Amino acid sequence: MPEVLVCKDGEIAEGGVRLIKVGREEIGVIRHSNKYYAYRNVCPHQGGPACEGLRMPQVVDRIGEGGILLGQTFDEDDMHIVCPWHGYEFHLADGCHVIDRNLRLKRYEVVQRGGEIFIAV
Ligand code: FES
Repeated sequence: MPEVLVCKDGEIAEGGVRLIKVGREEIGVIRHSNKYYAYRNVCPHQGGPACEGLRMPQVVDRIGEGGILLGQTFDEDDMHIVCPWHGYEFHLADGCHVIDRNLRLKRYEVVQRGGEIFIAV
């Protein structure tokens, strides 16, 4: 599978995204916790620029005895990409929608080699 150079490792700030064009596709390369993720910048809902949205951790209910809701907290190990158009959320790790796993961002493999970041297209 051909690889496309994105940038040197470290050129994307932690928590940042770099958009690149590959043919007619726009792909967002996201850096989070020193890992890189790449997705087509098109939301499967109505085509919004999903990769340009906020990234937020999963909200987790804290349930006490008797099923009483005690509050909510965040799961920082499950970051979401939030599409800026209507707020659909996708797991950063695999691009799947948080509720409907059949709805997903198109994912690209990221390759780190020799201090550079590539995506396989
Ligand atoms: S286009 Fe992304 S949530 Fe609607």
